[in-house]
Amino acid sequence: MRIRLICATIALLFTTTLLHAAEPEIRFRVDNEAPSATIPAEIYGHFAEHLGTCIYGGLWVGTDSEIANEEGYRTDVLEALRGLDIPVLRWPGGCFADEYHWRDGIGPKESRPRMVNSNWGGTVEDNSFGTHEFLNLCEKLGCEPYISGNVGSGTVEELAKWVEYMTAAEGPMALLREKNGRKEPWRVKYLGVGNESWGCGGNMRPEYYSDLYRRYATYCRNFGDNRLYKVASGASDYDFRWTEVLMQQIGSNCMDGISLHYYTVRNWNDKGSATEFGENDYYATIRKALGIEPVLQRHIALMDAYDPDGRVDLLVDEWGTWFDEEPGTIRGHLYQQSTMRDAMVAALTFNIFHRYTERVKMANIAQIANVLQSMVLTRGKDMVLTPTYHVFRMYKVHQQAEFLPATCVEGATGECSDVSITASRNEAGEVNLSIVNPSLEESRKVIIEFNAAVSGKPTAEILRAKRINDFNDFGKEPKVAPAPFDKVRLTGNRVEIEIPAQSIVSVNIK
Ligand code: AHR
Repeated sequence: MRIRLICATIALLFTTTLLHAAEPEIRFRVDNEAPSATIPAEIYGHFAEHLGTCIYGGLWVGTDSEIANEEGYRTDVLEALRGLDIPVLRWPGGCFADEYHWRDGIGPKESRPRMVNSNWGGTVEDNSFGTHEFLNLCEKLGCEPYISGNVGSGTVEELAKWVEYMTAAEGPMALLREKNGRKEPWRVKYLGVGNESWGCGGNMRPEYYSDLYRRYATYCRNFGDNRLYKVASGASDYDFRWTEVLMQQIGSNCMDGISLHYYTVRNWNDKGSATEFGENDYYATIRKALGIEPVLQRHIALMDAYDPDGRVDLLVDEWGTWFDEEPGTIRGHLYQQSTMRDAMVAALTFNIFHRYTERVKMANIAQIANVLQSMVLTRGKDMVLTPTYHVFRMYKVHQQAEFLPATCVEGATGECSDVSITASRNEAGEVNLSIVNPSLEESRKVIIEFNAAVSGKPTAEILRAKRINDFNDFGKEPKVAPAPFDKVRLTGNRVEIEIPAQSIVSVNIK
């Protein structure tokens, strides 16, 4: 009996060693010689809607608040967001945008009218955060504003005057702006003409919307040297017909971009818990996140057919995870926690976006604070950084960097689809790699070979959690935060990384 036990133990040890020795290798070739595309910074864009506590409580507390603030903006949130080098911020919606009347949000706060936010829980909106508060926030963050205009329930005149109010140096709107405390016009580049016009933005047909778009776009003028970049309200997910009709009917003459919305929801009636999920749910969410790639390909193919010169850009101006609201929170406020699963979705999605930047010029995660896949969550005076925040922080090195195409070498012992990578080179010549291993159990050995030698010293950091369901909670030690990582070797033109299960690794070579 004893001998049999010893034999079994030896056999087990032997098998384990063999398995370990045979750890599959996944190989990539990275082209760092041929000139390549620049990754637009705007891929790292954000979205802030008057929804739940995104604006009120998240970004804005007002100057009378006991919560530390800089001219009404939460100091802790501002500081956190400054760490992300935000390139562009979309506002005021979402669905809210098509019920928003900008004149209600200017002038003395006490005389601003109230309204019911009928899209989002019937909350009463006091309009204390309006045009000035938003555009000043963009100045504080050093980002481009992206205004989402009201087409559904507004008028052409209303949107045209809003543009004039924000950007004209002279005339009646400029005088009104000055009376409200701002002499200099702001610079506003991005203008969305409606939002989800096939749904909450007016339930239109694409043919009707196309004509309406042309009308609105005609009267939204450039004032001084401010140049508008006009975005048509595009499709959601698999609605390829919407994209096709807009490309056909609007054309590239008066449309700079067309939007696309993509969320990881699989069943709108049962979106699942943001934190309590099992292995199957996890992999299903990851599959849905990866599903954005064929969706992009089909929208892009349609755009290519009507616009072979690539004059119209594709902007994924809403994307991310969408789960059930946290128990105990207000219905319609879309407040969800954010786990390591969300971080995986963010990193995998960026790795996909980077490959399509010939057409995809902007993306705006939904949303910046307290709503859906946010960067920060606030509760009273407290704030936590979400795992997704850390991905945006780790990935910001790719903004405006030269994309280095990576091809997986088929036939190596590991499966290409098991990991996802991005490589880029910044202006200073530093190479940055982002590697994602979504497997819940298997670590992977990843070998990245460059065409030409890469010189420098690699340093790396890793984002991972003990459990994929881990999240950062108020008043507790953060469970998901980046840490230094040393399982990276560079020899000549070859980088070797042992990436643990369910982790995201950033490598910087300089
Ligand atoms: O981001 C939440 C909502 O999702 C937006 O208001 C809307 O555009 C989309 O359906």
